[in-house]
Amino acid sequence: MDGHDQVWSVRWGKVVGAVRALGSVRGLRTLRWAWRRRRADALGLPRRGPERARVPGAAVRMEPRPGGGVIHFARSSLRVRVAAGGAVFCGWDGAVPEPSYALADGCPEPDARVVLEPDTEGGWRVVAERVTVTVSRHGAVDVRTPGGVVLRRELPPRWWDRVPGDDGDVPGERSVDSRWVQRAEVAADARFFGLGGRSAGPRLRAGTYRLWNTDPGGAFVPGDDPLSVTMPVQFVVADAGTHLVFHDNSWDGTVTLREGVEGAGSGHDRPGCAELRMDGGPLRYWILVGTPARVLQCWTALTGTPALPPAWALGPQHARWGFGSQTEVRRVVSGYQERGLPLSAVHLDIDHFDGHRVFTVDRTAFPDLPGLARELRAEGVRLVSIVDPGVKAEPGNAVYEGGAAADAYVRDARGREVRGVVWPGEAVFPDFTDARVRKWWGGLYAERVAQGFSGVWHDMNEPVSFAAFGDPSLPRSARHALEGRGGDHREAHNVYGLAMARAGYDGLLEQRPEERPFLFSRSGWVGMQRYGGTWSGDVATGWPGLRASLSLLLGMGLCGVPYSGPDVGGFSGVPSPELYLRWFQMAAFLPLFRTHSAMTAGRREPWEYGSEVLEHARAALLERMRLLPYFMTLAQLARLSGAPYVRPVWWHAPRDRKLRDCEDAFLLGDALLVAPVLGPGVTRRAVRLPRGRWYDTASGRAYDGPGQVLVDAPLSRIPVLARAGAVLPVAGAEGATELEVWAPKPGRHGGGLVVPDAGDGWERPEVERYETRLEGGRVVVERQGGGEVGYRVRVRGLPEGSP
Ligand code: GLC
Repeated sequence: MDGHDQVWSVRWGKVVGAVRALGSVRGLRTLRWAWRRRRADALGLPRRGPERARVPGAAVRMEPRPGGGVIHFARSSLRVRVAAGGAVFCGWDGAVPEPSYALADGCPEPDARVVLEPDTEGGWRVVAERVTVTVSRHGAVDVRTPGGVVLRRELPPRWWDRVPGDDGDVPGERSVDSRWVQRAEVAADARFFGLGGRSAGPRLRAGTYRLWNTDPGGAFVPGDDPLSVTMPVQFVVADAGTHLVFHDNSWDGTVTLREGVEGAGSGHDRPGCAELRMDGGPLRYWILVGTPARVLQCWTALTGTPALPPAWALGPQHARWGFGSQTEVRRVVSGYQERGLPLSAVHLDIDHFDGHRVFTVDRTAFPDLPGLARELRAEGVRLVSIVDPGVKAEPGNAVYEGGAAADAYVRDARGREVRGVVWPGEAVFPDFTDARVRKWWGGLYAERVAQGFSGVWHDMNEPVSFAAFGDPSLPRSARHALEGRGGDHREAHNVYGLAMARAGYDGLLEQRPEERPFLFSRSGWVGMQRYGGTWSGDVATGWPGLRASLSLLLGMGLCGVPYSGPDVGGFSGVPSPELYLRWFQMAAFLPLFRTHSAMTAGRREPWEYGSEVLEHARAALLERMRLLPYFMTLAQLARLSGAPYVRPVWWHAPRDRKLRDCEDAFLLGDALLVAPVLGPGVTRRAVRLPRGRWYDTASGRAYDGPGQVLVDAPLSRIPVLARAGAVLPVAGAEGATELEVWAPKPGRHGGGLVVPDAGDGWERPEVERYETRLEGGRVVVERQGGGEVGYRVRVRGLPEGSP
């Protein structure tokens, strides 16, 4: 089957599955639930009724404020405020930065040096160190580089307000569900990235992308949209500069993108365009400009530093839905050990719960989980547990009863518990937007810790309630605390997974304050990196799925979530040995390196695909173990700077248009360029190189970029190239960290950072900086600021026989 056939077979499989499900008990429940949800919304949501369109109108006056000011228009107002770090806030209709689920520490201080002043064209202008913002008399906002080049032009927005007085609204006041649209123009050469985890990327081509976290219901393929993590974050890269725009609004909406065309009709450029349409919520956004690295640094300062995983979470991990028993887990781990395959963690899915009830254990199949955990831990293997938010609603279920007593569950507009359908059957959903509920839920992780688990894997938290038709989630009219403000699911839906992650992270931290919590979550929103990472979700087995999983995690990295990875082999089916191996080889260079599959899918142990695959998978695993100190350094650097471990190849050269369009390779930190094999039958592949010298790490052969080269990609490995001059920490044969140094190009310097990490805990290690140069044909490595190079150095990339 080629990629196209594989996509259709997955889509057809979903239809057949849905029809079959309808005949079962669960199917009937999901049918009843879908009707109920629809009725709840018909009764519980305000009627849309007549609406009136509105635009800001002409500007009437301006009020200066710290960092900018407020411009009053005939029918709206715009607040512009530049924060100390350079981020620009724009809020229409009185919108202010807080409250916000995205901001880590509230709104940053204004930059006291900037003022809003009239410009010569009847509008206003804010000149900050890195950006100039101009507001026209009709409310168009231009964002320019300090050199005056326009990066983005936001046209005046348009609202549709409910006609005053309708449905109890206060006459003359905008209601929270006023719909709005805002269109922006960017340079004709600009490329769009981001929007959370998208299957069709990493470059987001023309199309409409929805902002509503959604379980695709079965395995997804490229083009399935939306998925579990959507974010109103556009990362835009153009010759004139890079910028990020974040609309801080968690409501449902769409972003319609269209790339521009240079020299379109009569030689004029047609600009690129991004149009955002929202069903409600505030019209407020942040704009960050600079190099990609600076933009992400600023983004991290605004939305939070990525949680640092413990070192073991950077090792190889194995999961499966349906291990079925303790004996089987033991058998799989022994399988790894007997074959000399390193393994860091095993993940237990919902089948280890008692009847799929979260925070319970099936004692027949897993009679002594703490014992198993202890035994495995002694062998260097941790256990990770799945945690789903849906709690089986039944008397006698202690978790359910505890939550009911604490009034923890989401209620409908009439005040009754919302009862949906998930794995355990009828289920209720904690309202994580309530601090009190987060505290109660966090306390439940004590049970997981007592069972011996070292980390958690949050799932089904879009949140999902299986529905025979319509949206597989809660009614939009369901009520949420929203930190005491009160509101409904229309606003709470997209932040549900984020708030659950907060509860889980705080719960684990309270249990084991001396350890770094390990958590990754299927759903989430802007700021989820504060609590952990994510993974691809149920990506379809097949070459298109492999590609989709790469695009998804590159997009997440640009949205500030650096720790993620795919289900190696795909979630849903039986990969060919070649596909399995190529997926495995790629994932060996991704932060979360985990095999996983559905209950009905094929096995994922490396020895299930024949001896040749086993041998090559072993090589990939050993290489991962060798690179662990480098991964740890990248994790620390992500914490310090927001730079994702896995970056698009244009990271240091956003003006290189060919790199901007290259979607089949990635940089791992600054030192390595990884070119995975994304299709069948490949033994050589084209690799687009950024400027500078690059060494094929397998052959040592040097190539000079920029340009495209053909590199061997035999079944035994995928191409990995090292940047000339790079320094990377690796594990030496005896386990001690060594420095791998790639010879700089003659006349050029090189270098690299090393952050030695104790593996866990909260110590903040020093960042070590190394410089490299060629001197008389020899590579010299020095520690910046003097001091010893306290590691054994291995030089690579020098011609044979060099000193
Ligand atoms: C969801 C998850 C998947 C898990 C399954 C059963 O489909 O995405 O990883 O195995 O639920 O818990």
